[in-house]
Amino acid sequence: MAKSTKPIAAKPIDSRAAPLAKRRVLELRRQILEWDHLYYVLDSPAVSDYEYDQLFAELVALESTHPDLLDPDSPTQRVGGEPIAEFLKVPHTKPMLSLTNSYSTDDILAFDERVKKFLGTEQTQEYFCELKFDGLAVELIYQDGRFERAVTRGDGQVGEDVTQNVRTIRAIPLHLRGPSKGKIEIRGEVLIFKSDFSELNETQQEAGAATFANPRNAAAGSIRQLDPKIAERRPLRLFCYAPGHIEHTTVRSQSEWLDHLRHLGLPALSFDTWGIVKAGFDRGIQSQLPLAAICKGPVEAVEYYEAVQKLRHALPFDIDGVVIKLNSFSLQEALGTVARSPRWATAAKFPPERATTRVINIMVQVGRTGALTPVAVMDPVRVGGVSVENATLHNQSEIDRKDIRIGDTVVVQRAGDVIPEIVEVVLSARPSSSVPFKIPGHCPSCGEAVLQLEGEVVLRCLNCQCPAVISEAIKHFASRRAMNIERLGDRVIEQLTEAQLVRRFSDLYRLTVDDLLSLPRQGDKSAQNIKESIETSRATTLARVIFALGIRFVGEQTAKALAKHFKTMDAFLAASEAELVEIEDIGPKVASSISKQLSSAAFVGEVKALLEFLSLESVKHAKVQQTLSGLTIVITGTLPLPRDEIKDTILAHGGKSPGSVGKTTNYLLAGEEAGSKMQKAQELGVEILDWDGFQKLLKNGRSIG
Ligand code: IVH
Repeated sequence: MAKSTKPIAAKPIDSRAAPLAKRRVLELRRQILEWDHLYYVLDSPAVSDYEYDQLFAELVALESTHPDLLDPDSPTQRVGGEPIAEFLKVPHTKPMLSLTNSYSTDDILAFDERVKKFLGTEQTQEYFCELKFDGLAVELIYQDGRFERAVTRGDGQVGEDVTQNVRTIRAIPLHLRGPSKGKIEIRGEVLIFKSDFSELNETQQEAGAATFANPRNAAAGSIRQLDPKIAERRPLRLFCYAPGHIEHTTVRSQSEWLDHLRHLGLPALSFDTWGIVKAGFDRGIQSQLPLAAICKGPVEAVEYYEAVQKLRHALPFDIDGVVIKLNSFSLQEALGTVARSPRWATAAKFPPERATTRVINIMVQVGRTGALTPVAVMDPVRVGGVSVENATLHNQSEIDRKDIRIGDTVVVQRAGDVIPEIVEVVLSARPSSSVPFKIPGHCPSCGEAVLQLEGEVVLRCLNCQCPAVISEAIKHFASRRAMNIERLGDRVIEQLTEAQLVRRFSDLYRLTVDDLLSLPRQGDKSAQNIKESIETSRATTLARVIFALGIRFVGEQTAKALAKHFKTMDAFLAASEAELVEIEDIGPKVASSISKQLSSAAFVGEVKALLEFLSLESVKHAKVQQTLSGLTIVITGTLPLPRDEIKDTILAHGGKSPGSVGKTTNYLLAGEEAGSKMQKAQELGVEILDWDGFQKLLKNGRSIG
């Protein structure tokens, strides 16, 4: 992973290379900060993930060869320290309040009446209306512009110091923009985008870890981890909304405050007046448009509430209502607080998204590890903007706990907008003939007896010839983050395994177009496309192949760590359990699972057979533009990166890099203190490149660069 932030080994400092390296390090840091700002604050990404990762990796490499250039505020140093034993308690300078709730138009109108009564006026008030983020509230503390601390809300008076974890959130600048004096406390919400959440749960599942019920739980759980490395791997985001205690400020209202936040380089919603915001909502345009609004009076605030409720599912993150705040800070102060809530704001909550439907059947699915999962099939019903007809029932003990039976009327809920679940059974509507549901003792696919392994709740089919298990394993193998066989859909995989044309991974590469055409309803063009995408998948990386094998507990990250450590499949296949536990990021459970798998001769034989079809080396390079194709570049002198790394880069871009200058040499890449090679190159009239020139050549190739 490009964001690796291992403790940096102290290597001897090469003073000659220092000035050049320093310049580059500063340049890289500035560029990365700029890209983070564009991405997280301005919501307009400037580069691809690939480009970002490349630059990030270069910075990591440079800082590791030049430990003297290390800076605790470098973007590579977001994971600051080692796991901590417990969170320190920190009192808030200003209490973190909660909000009173409103659930209807009437409640909002009543809120406005209370505000006016308290102010002793009949005048229309200006309200600032925002989304109510469904995440975890935190306070960020900046001292003289530098990020110093992050604290959870806790009981409102005292929170917990979660600085280590919050620091890993790239949306948070470690330095505020512009000059900044004194202490600034800013409140906001840590959350996870819905799309990132689905991926996170997939990764958790692949790694055999527990999945999260919704993005809010995942965000809160991540912030409560004692090891910041875990938080760093979670796709956390943050939006700021409220001021805490602030030493110097001229900001007079919530709308000015949001503007101010953006000026400081902090992520916050953008806003406009309700008229303009509404025009965008009406046209169904949400991205690029303000999501908060200045509303004149309660009627506009209600309109905002209703409009947001309609489009909440189109938002990239979960919200549970809107917050309506009196815009002026001085009026807020005049109103003050009652109990633990301000009088000047209300949370207008959306009604919970649940619906009632009937369970038509309970099916038992077989996963790629043979695990049996009961799934309720229901009459389709709309919940949270989508039609729901299946809900996972997890396992027998879940079914027993909720006593869910075929024919039951149930309440379904979409947890965190993604996974539908049955909340409860409407017992009064239960048919008298109903019986408790038991997962059958035989695999629904192959009929073999199923087993409950020691220490597990799930039942498993352990027949490795089971068509369902094979078909699920192949689906995983072909999936996007594994071998990425784009055109090979689930349905075709099921047909292929049913027809026994595919019984193991390598069989995919033995398939002919005629084999594919023998499947029901398979057309010429589609068969051709499938064959082509199978062929394309042959060029890939070792990490993807290891991940694709579907070894229990080996998720994408673990596969990457294994590939990085072993470098070749042969070395991986020969790994001992003792060697595996030594690898960073690989625990005893994972190591034992891998070594069990590797002890199967059949498995190892199949991987070797598979390898015959793959080209792992060319792959890595295939993705990189071959800008140096046909060029021979010799390296000399001290350069910002170690020589073997530069050589790898040249090879990856299709060039050659022998150790000495000769007649076929096209360029000499010369750093400081270049020696005899420089002389030789000058004699032969070989063009000399400096580091910048080399970067240009890498990017553009010879014609332009
Ligand atoms: S302003 C006096 N604005 O809601 C409290 N809060 O019930 C001022 N929240 O703990 C808070 N989105 O976690 C504010 N746009 C928003 C919010 C928001 C979510 C949460 C926050 C707070 C809770 C209050």
